[in-house]
Amino acid sequence: MDLTNKHFKAFIERQEAIKKQYSPQQIAKQHSKGKLAAHERIGLLFDAGTFEEIDAFVTPAGLPVEFGKVEKSFGDGVIVGYGKVNGRLVFAYAQDFTIMGGSLGIVHAKKISKIQEMALKMGAPIIGLIDSGGARIQEGVASLSGYAYIFHNIIQSSGIIPQISVIMGPAAGGAVYSPALTDFVFMTNHTSYMFVTGPNVVKEVLNEDVTFDQLGGAEIHARKSGVAHMIYDDEENTILALKKFLAYLPSNNVENPPVVPDDGSVPDFNEKLRDIIPDDPNKAYDVKDVINLIVDRNSFFETAELYAPNIVTGLARIKGKTIGVVANQPKVLAGVLDIDSSTKGARFIRFCDAFNIPILTLEDVPGFLPGVDQEHSGIIRHGAKMLFAYSEATVPKITIILRKAYGGAFIVMNSKNLGGDFNYAWPSAEIAVMGPDGAVAILYRKELAQSKNPAELKKELLKKYRDKVANPFIADELGYIDEVIDPAVTRKKVISALSALSNKWVKVPARKHGNMPL
Ligand code: HXC
Repeated sequence: MDLTNKHFKAFIERQEAIKKQYSPQQIAKQHSKGKLAAHERIGLLFDAGTFEEIDAFVTPAGLPVEFGKVEKSFGDGVIVGYGKVNGRLVFAYAQDFTIMGGSLGIVHAKKISKIQEMALKMGAPIIGLIDSGGARIQEGVASLSGYAYIFHNIIQSSGIIPQISVIMGPAAGGAVYSPALTDFVFMTNHTSYMFVTGPNVVKEVLNEDVTFDQLGGAEIHARKSGVAHMIYDDEENTILALKKFLAYLPSNNVENPPVVPDDGSVPDFNEKLRDIIPDDPNKAYDVKDVINLIVDRNSFFETAELYAPNIVTGLARIKGKTIGVVANQPKVLAGVLDIDSSTKGARFIRFCDAFNIPILTLEDVPGFLPGVDQEHSGIIRHGAKMLFAYSEATVPKITIILRKAYGGAFIVMNSKNLGGDFNYAWPSAEIAVMGPDGAVAILYRKELAQSKNPAELKKELLKKYRDKVANPFIADELGYIDEVIDPAVTRKKVISALSALSNKWVKVPARKHGNMPL
C-alpha cells in the first residue's frame, strides 16, 4: 500500500487529531479532582492491549441548537468498545467528562446503544463507566430520547448478560436510572454522586442546605439508600474490585460461572464450626466467620456490605465454583428480617437465579421486625419479595439452619416446602412458630397470672419449650428438614449437595412472567 497516498495521510491526520483532543489541561483537571480520564479508566479495566474502540470518530449530531453550543469533538464524549477482562470478552463505555461534561447527546447515546446491542448479541457483560452531567441540555428532547433508548436496552438485556455500572463522577437527573436498572452499582468515595435533583433544587424547593456528598455520595448510597452496592476510596481500587467481581460471573445466562482451581486449604471437616454458636441463645456472633469456614479461602466477596447489614449477601466459591451466600447476621439487630434486608436479599437471590449461581442460605433469624414504622412502611409487601424470590429461583438452593428459625422467617429463608433442595440444621437450631418468651406468654398467660412465683414458673416453662419444641429434632422427625448435621461437616455436606444438584432441572409453567410484589 502506498503510505503517502492522500487517504492514508487523512487517516493519519485524524489519528493525530483525536490524540490532541485529550488536552493535558483537561486531563490535569480530572486528576485534580481525584478522577481519572476516560481512556485511563478503560486502560485499567481491560487486559493490556486488548481493548478495541468502536465509533471513535463519530461527531455530535449537528442538530439545530437554539441555546448554548455543542463542541465539535471526535467521539462525542464517550469511549465505547470491547476487549478482554481476565481473559474474557467484556463490552464497556466510558463517559468523558472533559468533553461537554460527559453529557449525553443523541450520538453519544447511539454509541452506547450500539455496544449494548453487541454485548447482548455476543453474550458478554457490559460495564458503564459513568461520569456525566446527564442529558445534554443543548440537544433537548433528542438527548432525552437517547436515554430512553439506553434504558430500554438495559431492560431487554436484564437477566441475559451481567450489566454493571461504575459511577466515577456525577450521575444526575434521570440519568441515575441507567445505573439503577443494572445489576450492580459500584461507586468511588468523594468523587462520585448520584441524585435525581441536585443540591440547588433541594435548596430552592425545600430551603435545605445539603452538599453533593451528603445528598448523593457513595457512602450515603451504600449505607442508606441501597443504590450503591460496592464503594471504594479511589478509582483504581474500584476498577480492581470490579475485575475481581466479574471473575465470579458467567458471561451470560446460558453459561455457568467460571471455575477456578481450589487450593484445597479449607478443610471439609472443621471442628471450629462446633464452637461458633454461643451457649447463650441471646448472644450474638459474626455469621461471616461461619461463611469463611465453609467457602474456599478468601473467596467471599460481599455485596452491599454497608446496607441492611442484618442480612449478609455475597458471592463465594466452593471447590472453585461460584455460589451466592445469603446469611442472617446475628451481630446486627439479631439478624432480624426488616424491609431493607428483605429487599436486599430478594434482589440478590434474583441475580443469582438469573445467572445460574447456586444459593447457600445460612439461617439464624428471630423473625420479622415488629413495629408501627415497619408495618406502615410495608414489611408485608417487602417481606413477600424474599418469599417470591426464593420460591421462584430454580438454581440449586441449600439451607443450613444455624440457630433461630422462628415463624414466618423459618418459611422465608428457603425452607423445604418453599422449594429448598437440601435443608440441614445444626443441633443448635431452634425451629418453632415463635421464640420461647412469646410462646410461654401466650400459652400460659393465665397460669403465670395466677402463680405465686411467676418468675420461677416462667423459667421452667422456657426450659421446657426449648427442650421439647425449639430444637431441630421435631422438624427432622417430620421431614421438614433433611438432616441434623454436625457443624464440623457443613462444608462437606454443601459440596456433596452441590454435586448432586449439578444437573438440577426444573420445568417452570409457561407464563409471561410472575407478578412479584414490588
Ligand atoms: C451540557 C453540560 C451538562 C449538560 C455539564 N455540562 N452538564 N453540558 N449538558 N447536562 C458542561 C458544562 O457546561 C461545562 O462546560 C462542563 O460540562 C463541565 O461542567 P461544570 O459545571 O463546569 O463542572 P462541575 O462544576 O464539576 O459540575 C458538574 C455538574 C454540573 C454538577 C454535573 O455541570 C451540573 O449540575 N450539570 C447539570 C446536571 C443536570 O442537571 N443534568 C441534567 C439532568 S436531567 P464548559 O464548556 O464550561 O467546560 C437528565 C435527564 C435524563 O439527565 C432523563 C432520563 C429519563
